Amino acid sequence: MLAQTKKQDSFLTTKTFGKQIHYFERIESTNDTALQLAENGAPEGSLIIADSQSAGRGQGNHNWHSPGKVGLYFSVILRPELNSVSFCPFTVCAGIAAAQALTDITGYEVQVKWPNDLILKNKKLGGILLESGAKQKSLKHLIVGIGININQTVQDFPIELRETATSLNIVTGKTFDRLEILSQILAKLEEAYYLFINQGIEPFIALFEKIDYLLDKKITVNTPRGILGGKAAGIDQTGALLIQPPGKNKLTKIISGSILSIRSNKIAACN
Ligand code: BTN
Repeated sequence: MLAQTKKQDSFLTTKTFGKQIHYFERIESTNDTALQLAENGAPEGSLIIADSQSAGRGQGNHNWHSPGKVGLYFSVILRPELNSVSFCPFTVCAGIAAAQALTDITGYEVQVKWPNDLILKNKKLGGILLESGAKQKSLKHLIVGIGININQTVQDFPIELRETATSLNIVTGKTFDRLEILSQILAKLEEAYYLFINQGIEPFIALFEKIDYLLDKKITVNTPRGILGGKAAGIDQTGALLIQPPGKNKLTKIISGSILSIRSNKIAACN
């Protein structure tokens, strides 16, 4: 079905995103191909999309399970005139854009778990992988890769992922048109990209707060400074995660890290 993307882009409502489309039935990783195409001069907004990936990658070199024709696996080439450091917070903005599109389509609230996870009903629905072709400090190009579990059934996931991963189909019981979802995510992503270029992360902070999966939960995070713990308190102007360590008023800023554990603060109701 995604092969249609090869023939026409009329399903898209975007200005630049998806103006050039590279469709593959099966490919190692859309991010890898996007990086190569960007090196060879592919224009901003080029869309690289595959029906399946044999070596899909997630954050921290994890594999991204990408079975055929049930998920969305795509990457977009960006060429912002910013350095790679100031572009890091765009991961969160891309997550917000994808979450908004998915919420609009399904009617179910999709949340963002800092920095790059999309969460539906407490399980992982998708993720964002932002990678740069940096030349010293300046940014040559940037790849935003997005993977979403759409029509997977529980059996489509390997056993080790079944407890933590979910799909739109598993939660809603419905089958979704992947092209329609792609179109809506690209529209929100393009909007978010130009807003971020013009105004930075500021306009996204309040949006994030509404769908922040970690907010007010007690968490531990593996960071380059060691394991830090505290109550999640949103993000700051640089996109860093803020946590409030126990017994302290001052917030600790975490620029990079992976969430190790989450404990909800909610008190269970007694009958
Ligand atoms: C994560 O949650 O760790 C990020 C997952 C990103 C997966 C997508 S699928 C399309 C693109 N190509 C890849 O190899 N990875 C990203």
